[in-house]
Amino acid sequence: MIEFNRHLDDIPVYPAASTYAFEGELVKLASNETPYPPHPQVLEAVQAELRTLNRYPDPAKAKLRRAVADRTGVPPERIATGNGSCEILLAAAEAMLEPGAELVYAWPAFSMYPQLAAMTGARAIEVPLNDAGEHDLEAMAAEVNAATRLVIVCNPNNPTATALAPSVLDDWIAELPRHVAVIVDEAYVEFSTLQDPDDSLDLLERHPNLILLRTFSKVYGLCGLRVGYALCPEPFRLAVDRVRQPFSVNALAQAAAIEALDHQDEVERRVEQTVIERVHVESELAERGLDTTESQANFSWVSLGDRDEDEIVDGLARLGVIVRAGKALGEEGRLRVTYGTRQENDRFLAALDTLL
Ligand SMILES: Cc1ncc(COP(=O)(O)O)c(C=O)c1O
Repeated sequence: MIEFNRHLDDIPVYPAASTYAFEGELVKLASNETPYPPHPQVLEAVQAELRTLNRYPDPAKAKLRRAVADRTGVPPERIATGNGSCEILLAAAEAMLEPGAELVYAWPAFSMYPQLAAMTGARAIEVPLNDAGEHDLEAMAAEVNAATRLVIVCNPNNPTATALAPSVLDDWIAELPRHVAVIVDEAYVEFSTLQDPDDSLDLLERHPNLILLRTFSKVYGLCGLRVGYALCPEPFRLAVDRVRQPFSVNALAQAAAIEALDHQDEVERRVEQTVIERVHVESELAERGLDTTESQANFSWVSLGDRDEDEIVDGLARLGVIVRAGKALGEEGRLRVTYGTRQENDRFLAALDTLL
């Protein structure tokens, strides 16, 4: 019998969304994707790159890092890229965590975080969110000690969609010891109306232990290609690059991300559309007596009260609408629904009506 390392059994399996053999067009509102297809010029950039697939991609990702630098004002040596931002999280864990080390994050939050401790043998300290589904920063700071290597703040938080203003984070990070790395996972930052997505960039100047994690998977609509980046201290980039394979961002992903950065007008249009759908979905849910947390993201965290979560989530799947069950994400009696197009959102609401 082949044998595996002793951490394997502790690693949670990434929760897949439920699917049903549905005869018709499925409405996928389970993975916080954008419903809008890539910009035509992004598709052209990918097409052009196909001719060189016999060559390895640029391991330094020089053009991509230059393009991110131009967009953010952060120099290329402080930009790490990855095969999705997930890969950067995994690499950070490998580079920073080990038995005896501690990782602090709020819970429920992104389902990858527990994996980082489990795979390295580090201790995970999960700090409950407050009743509004927001980070309890004071309680998180109270968990930091000499063994803490890494603190992760998911902002806006997946799955609760709540967000903290950068000024609040600024004061909080200043109080943490400098040996602790703070990853602020900003996968959904563009959708927040609390801040301009660039507001948090200023924090990098003030906090040498801060890492801002971003992705092309959400508002840029490139999750199928897998590309994310971190704005970080240079030693963090060097550490991340050291622990993973050299060609981790494929050539098509690099080309697409570079081109996508050139279309900030498209990003703004998508954000506007998403905010319109957010207001629509949340007000329709409120009319049905369903509470949500205050969303600053492209999804809602819906309280089902004393209704049966399985009945509703499975019932929606039977009607061809796929959402996430709260219990798969850390809290029962909830569902998480991503905003799709207006037509998709209305199919979700109509399907829900048949189940309430
Ligand atoms: C909070 C958060 N961080 C990171 C990611 C991972 O994104 P990527 O596709 O860049 O790996 C997700 C994906 O859902 C997410 O919700």
